[in-house]
Amino acid sequence: MIIDSLDYTPYLLGYNAIARPMMDRLPAALGARFYDIFDPSCLDFYRLVNAGNCAAFGDLGMPLWVQLDCCTLPSAMIGFTLPRAQIAPDLWRRLTHHAERIFGPEAAARLDDYDGPVPVSEYCGVRAHDPDVTLGFSMFALVPAARLGVRTKALALLAYGTPRQIGTTQWNNTAVRAHCRFGPLHILEPRARTHSRPEATFVYAIDVPAPDALLDLIASGDSPRIRHPAPAFTVEAASPADAADQIERLIRERGPLALTAPGLLSTEPLRVQVAPSGPPPAA
Ligand SMILES: CC(C)(COP(=O)(O)OP(=O)(O)OC[C@H]1O[C@@H](n2cnc3c(N)ncnc32)[C@H](O)[C@@H]1OP(=O)(O)O)[C@@H](O)C(=O)NCCC(=O)NCCS
Repeated sequence: MIIDSLDYTPYLLGYNAIARPMMDRLPAALGARFYDIFDPSCLDFYRLVNAGNCAAFGDLGMPLWVQLDCCTLPSAMIGFTLPRAQIAPDLWRRLTHHAERIFGPEAAARLDDYDGPVPVSEYCGVRAHDPDVTLGFSMFALVPAARLGVRTKALALLAYGTPRQIGTTQWNNTAVRAHCRFGPLHILEPRARTHSRPEATFVYAIDVPAPDALLDLIASGDSPRIRHPAPAFTVEAASPADAADQIERLIRERGPLALTAPGLLSTEPLRVQVAPSGPPPAA
């Protein structure tokens, strides 16, 4: 599959016995490749996904037990690869730096000769007990200006196949704009007090677009078929915590709200755009 001038190929990293139905939901024309987490020939790839996650998230990089127990065993990590020859030298240095830090010098030495596909983006979600809901909790993209965040999430939501997705993000995270490409972000909790970043994090839900709209998003990263309500308020906040306070107050006064496209208007000052997302509370 060609996106821009580089040769991106979709991948699923999972356990053969569990992940096949997700693979089957992807149209064959996308040319997705499956990597089995217990196949020894996939070990370097598995490590590169973790190194990529750590390169993107820094301090919040994914612990290995989470990658196995919470992501690739029960579900699948999904994203795009590029051929090794198309990886910029600086990105390759960052990936091998994290591989060495996490897996040791031997693992890093193996990568000296690696010429397989390199994961450059990833999304992971697991099905909640409600079978209609996917909880999405990891998204990264390492190639700038390729709309890779949006395309990766679209690919993953197509594979997971649920009508609703919930997740957390921060009021000032530019990822809000990527999430908003999928439709309005219904604000479930303006403040996720139990998150490791309690002052900045909120919980949202989206109604997952239909498969043909997801395929549009995979192809272009743009969202022509997804309608957003017109914005009703712009919230300008001194900090993410202030944004949470203001939104909490608005929800108390006006009823449920959703972030509407493009969601985040600016980070400095922090400005977000909201619209009603359901009927106002009874008077
Ligand atoms: C968040 C992330 C996945 C976005 O990936 P991406 O490929 O840059 O995003 P896309 O190109 O798909 O862009 C989606 C939107 O985000 C905007 N965006 C992305 N990075 C941005 C930045 N640094 N500053 C401003 N806007 C940005 C794009 O302009 C685009 O907005 P638009 O559709 O209104 O034009 C990537 O930046 C990343 O890996 N971040 C670190 C990890 C992280 O925070 N993940 C999110 C967890 S919720």
